[in-house]
Order: sequence, then structure tokens, then C-alpha cells
Amino acid sequence: HYTDPNPGDKLKPVTEQESWEKNQMSKTKLQFRSKDRKLESDEYEFVFENQIDSMKAAVKDSLDGEWETSPRSPDTSMARSPFDKLQEERKYLPIYPYRDEFLQAVINHQILVVVGDTGSGKTTQIPQYLHEAGFTKHGKIGCTQPRRVAAMSVAARVSQEMGVKLGHEVGYSIRFEDRTSEKTVLKYMTDGKLLREFLTEPNLASYTVLMLDEAHERTISTDILFGLIKDIARFRPDLKLLISSATLDAAKFSDYFDCAPIFKIPGRRYPVEIRYTKEPAADYLEAAITTALHIHATQPPGDGDILIFLTGQEEIETTGEMLKYKLSSLGRKFDDLILCPLYANLPMELQSKSFEPTPQGARKVVLATNIAETSLTIDGIKYVIDSGFCKTKSYNPRTGLESLLVTPISKASANQRAGRSGRTGPGQCFRLYTAFNYFNDLEDDNVPEIQRTNLAYVVLTLKSLGIHDLLNFDFLDPPPAEALVKALELLYALGALNKHGQLTKVGRRMAEFPLDPMLSKMIIASETYRCSDEVISIAAMLSVGNSIFYHPKNKKLLADSARLNFHMGNVGDHITLLKVYRSWKENNFSRQWCYENFIQARSMKRARDIRDQLASLLDRVEVELTSNFSDLEAIKMAVTSGFFPNSARLQKNGSYRTVKSPRTVYIHPSSGLVQVPPKWVIYHELVLTSKEYMRQVKL
Ligand code: CDP
Ligand code: MG
Repeated sequence: HYTDPNPGDKLKPVTEQESWEKNQMSKTKLQFRSKDRKLESDEYEFVFENQIDSMKAAVKDSLDGEWETSPRSPDTSMARSPFDKLQEERKYLPIYPYRDEFLQAVINHQILVVVGDTGSGKTTQIPQYLHEAGFTKHGKIGCTQPRRVAAMSVAARVSQEMGVKLGHEVGYSIRFEDRTSEKTVLKYMTDGKLLREFLTEPNLASYTVLMLDEAHERTISTDILFGLIKDIARFRPDLKLLISSATLDAAKFSDYFDCAPIFKIPGRRYPVEIRYTKEPAADYLEAAITTALHIHATQPPGDGDILIFLTGQEEIETTGEMLKYKLSSLGRKFDDLILCPLYANLPMELQSKSFEPTPQGARKVVLATNIAETSLTIDGIKYVIDSGFCKTKSYNPRTGLESLLVTPISKASANQRAGRSGRTGPGQCFRLYTAFNYFNDLEDDNVPEIQRTNLAYVVLTLKSLGIHDLLNFDFLDPPPAEALVKALELLYALGALNKHGQLTKVGRRMAEFPLDPMLSKMIIASETYRCSDEVISIAAMLSVGNSIFYHPKNKKLLADSARLNFHMGNVGDHITLLKVYRSWKENNFSRQWCYENFIQARSMKRARDIRDQLASLLDRVEVELTSNFSDLEAIKMAVTSGFFPNSARLQKNGSYRTVKSPRTVYIHPSSGLVQVPPKWVIYHELVLTSKEYMRQVKL
């Protein structure tokens, strides 16, 4: 049952106190799921909050945005071609009326903080305005994005708007993939990529403007860039610096950049109705599906799309399949639902489905990770379903253990998510958690990544930039001192630093690789064991992530047996990955082979690209490419040289105990070693789901 859209007496807005009283006993801090009572799927009930006021309250400090009452849309009736249409659309963006004022501000100030709601046109328009105003005559404009998907998709969009081929005037550059050329003047890139550019061009002389976009996301690379670029700006008065953000942190950024002026782009927002579940959802996937179907069944066809926030690829795929299954049993009425997954690893061509206009009378259901929270804007969303969770990295500096956890989002994220529904007209947001959860369990803000991650890579990069005094680096928010010490310890153990904390020759060579120091050490060590050819294949395969094996639910048995083939001989997952790569190569990199063996061709192609680049980096650090496939022991030794800090020992009860800071862990069920667990293992990473699992294990 859904609550009446007109809250009467029976549905008074839930006050903080009421919900607190009601829920106080049953909740724990980090869990919304009720343990004692499971709701049946058709039992989700939502309660209203007095939305408009609360939304206004939530954003009262942000922008002095006007609340529109009726939708506006660009008048494209006169447009003759798709290109003209795009030009019309550009004029409709909230930033457009401020174009000249903005350009004047850039001329008057070296550093500017730009704030505007998601979708106001910051990322796509600002670089174009600057280009049109002549800022690219003597150099490039660089615009950083925390996510590679955003860098690629925005570059594609801007190249269309400018009517040029992607990779020519407008290009993008992400780790292991560079789509720019001599001609490129607008360069979108990941923040991590710009950080790497410091190593080759320490004063970033080829840029006239740098825009650190999505600054509110506070990724570790963006945070480090703040410090480095602030420094450059002092001795390069010609360099313009823009810090852009979608949220309220503007004053903090401005303070940090010596009181840089804040340029606000007034937003265009429509009221958003927010509803909470009366009880915490026992299973938010179920709840999300039920809610989506309910919306579709009760709202007029074609009145707006649905955006569901979930935590990751696997969850999105599962939900997609569950939805499809449900739809097939519901008949014709649901034929017009179009499912669009959206997550970082999804290939570009499939991502674009989310951005295509919804056909007349149909409704899109976009299943997204928090990638759709601020970095990508999908037009036409009217309903947001918010699971209340996201995946975050967390790091315990005391134990040095890093894990990817599904955690509750912050209030800031919840409000961003809700805001996605009110961009082109009044919207509705269904929160799959209670008002009590929102007010009492959610933190106000996200913790900056620098405070919850392993710093080894960043410390190695800074050291190789000649920055030694890390404790006094100008951090916007400093990392925990313990975490810095842990990073120094690890780099010392890997031989990258000497006992004075200075970079060694090994460390300098490791820093050439845009990889986690443990991976780069493994590559450097492969020189000694004369198996660099194999080891870079393994490193490339590991860098692709967990998307090598294809696991369709309907062909599970076949997929499992295909996988077992590669696991043969209990050689461990690293060697398995190597075997997959080698067989693919022996089969002339064939798609068909991938298909037959339940391997994702796309991931393999990416592995090959990464491998090629690692091979050229090997050349740069003067490690000879030598192959030694017959000697698996040598390959394992090289892997161990990098990953010895991740070792674990078998216990009597079949679990494992990590060596460095004792902790009980298990071999991940997808590992080839799960059947015959060896006495000692080395793992690539730990993931926490129902248990703490080791992924990619070798003996
Ligand atoms: O950066 P900000 O969130 O302020 O906005 P933007 O990314 O520049 O987006 C401005 C407009 O461009 C939005 O209406 C998007 O729908 C559109 N856009 C798009 O159609 N495709 C993209 N890949 C990126 C943006
Ligand atoms: Mg943007």
C-alpha cells in the first residue's frame, strides 16, 4: 500500500522525535535492515515528509535557487539539424545566462570556486566558454573528473556539441587510455591522470586553465591536486584555476585557496517530494523493484523516468534480472519499461542507453551506482528510488587492512540523490529507509577519501615529485598520521624507500607505473626472476578487475565448468589469469574463443591495452621483456615479492589467518583454490560481503 499523495490527518509528516521514539529500540548504527521483522514485498509503505520545506532546509545554505512551478524545455522547433538542436539546448542550461559574467570573473581572478547544481552545465559548458573566449590560443584547458566514465562521457558530449571528432579538439585521457591528439585543446581526464602528468611536466606548462571538477567528491587524487596546484599557481600567474563543486563545501575550498571568490550558478530546481519507508526494508533490492513497479503501474505512462541507486555492478545485474523476471510474469502493461544499467565498468556503448531520450509513452528505469549522484546527469528523471547504501573503501590504519564495504550513504548524498528527480520538473524520491534512519543514522557528510584509504600509492607519487615532508604538505584535510606511517612502512618493506625515507632506485622505477606499489614491485621483481612477460600479463589482468569471467545466471553450470578448465591443477588465481590471457592470445585474440569459454571479450581487450602500456613502461625503466612460462615457481616468486604483506595461513577449521595483523579470512568462492586450500596463500585483495573473503589467491 502506498500512502495517499495528499497527506491527511492519518499521515502527518513524521517529525524527528516521533520517528525516533518509534524506532529507537530496533536500530543499530550501521544497519538499516530490521533483523526482527521482515516485510513482505508488497508491504512497503512510505510515509511523507513535509518535503518541500525539508528540501529547502537541506539546501538553504547552498544556492539561492528559484523554485520553478512549471517545467521549461528548450525550444528546438526551429532547429534544422541535430547540431543546431544541441546549440539550442546549450542555451537552455542554467549556466548560460551567466556566461559573460563568468568569463569576466575568470579574467579578473586567478582562482575561482564555481558552485552549481548538478546538471547546470559546469562540466560541459565552462571549458567551451573559455575556448570560445580564446583561452586555448596558447595552451590547453584541462578538466578533471573523479571517475573515468564521467571523463569519457562528458568528452563525447562536448565533442558533439562542438561538432568535432572525439580525440581531435576535444579528447579524454584516463589511466591506460589516451584519446587526445596534437589538436586537443579541451582535455577531460581523471584526477588520477593529471596527478601522473605532474611526473612528466611538473609545472603543467601546456595548460592555460585547469578545472578541478566535482571537487566535492573529495577523492584522494583531487585532494592531492589541490596542494600541488595551489603551489604551481603561485609561480605561474598566467595559469587560471577553477575549483568546481555541486555542493556546499564552497567556503571551505575558498578558504583553502586564499579566499578565492565563489561564483554561484543559481540552480533551477523543482520541488521534490520525499517519502520514507515506515519500517526499514528487509531487502532493499526487493523493495526497489516493488517500488519501481508500483510507480509504473500507478503513474501515467511516459510521465517520467525512474532512477534507482544501488551499490555496485553485481547488485545492478541481479536487480535487472529480477526485474525482467517479474516483468515477464506481469504481461503487456509492463512492456514499455526500458532497463538501463549504469556503472563504471559498463562499456561506453551500453552506457549511452541511459542518456538516450525515452521513446514516447515508455519509461526508462536506470539502475545506477552513485556514479549518477553528481558526475553524470540523466535528463527526464522524475522518480528516484534510493537504497540508502553505497560501496565505499575503508581503511584501518592500525591494521593496514583495506576493504570495500557496503555502507549507508551520508545525508549530503541522500539529498543529492533526491535532487536528481527534480531537475526538469517536480520529482519524487522514495527512500528505502525510515525518516529515523535519515535523521539519526546518516552522517552529515562523506568522509574524504584521503582519510579512509591506503596512502602507499600517493606517498610514492609525492616522494617521486620530490615532496619529502609529507606531514607538512598543505592538505585540505590531512590524512591520519597513522595512515601516513603505515604507507611509509609498506614502501620501506617493498624496498621503495630507504631507512631515511628517501626514494631508492627500486622506488623510482616503481613510481613509473600508475599502479598500486605492490603491483609495481611485483613487476620490477620480475626482472630478477626473468618472467616479466608473464608478470605484466598478470598485472594487466588484475587491473581489469573482477570482470574477466562471464557468469550469466541462466548458464551458470556451463560457465562454472568453463571456469574450472582454467583453474586446473590448483595453480592459484594469478596463474589462472595468466592462462586465460595466454590462451586468448594463442587463439589470435578471438572473440569467438571468449564467447565459447565464458570470458568477457571486452575485459580481455582492455587487459591487452593495459598490458601493451605496461610493456612500454618496462622499456622505460629498462626491464627486459623475458618470458619464462615453464617456470611457474619463478612467476610466483615475483608475485610474492610484491604481495608478501598479504599472506595468510590455513587454520584447522579451514579458515585463514592473515599474517601481518591477525584476522580471520576466507578464500572467495570464485577462487580456484577454494576446493583444495593450501597451507599458505597470498591474496590480491580482501572483500567483505557475508564474510571477509580473499580475492585472487595464489599458493
Ligand atoms: O557539470 P554539471 O553537472 O553542472 O552539468 P553538465 O554535466 O555540464 O551537464 C549539462 C547538460 O549536458 C545536462 O543537461 C546533461 O543532460 C547534458 N549532458 C549529456 O547529455 N550527456 C553527457 N554525457 C553529459 C551531459
Ligand atoms: Mg559536472
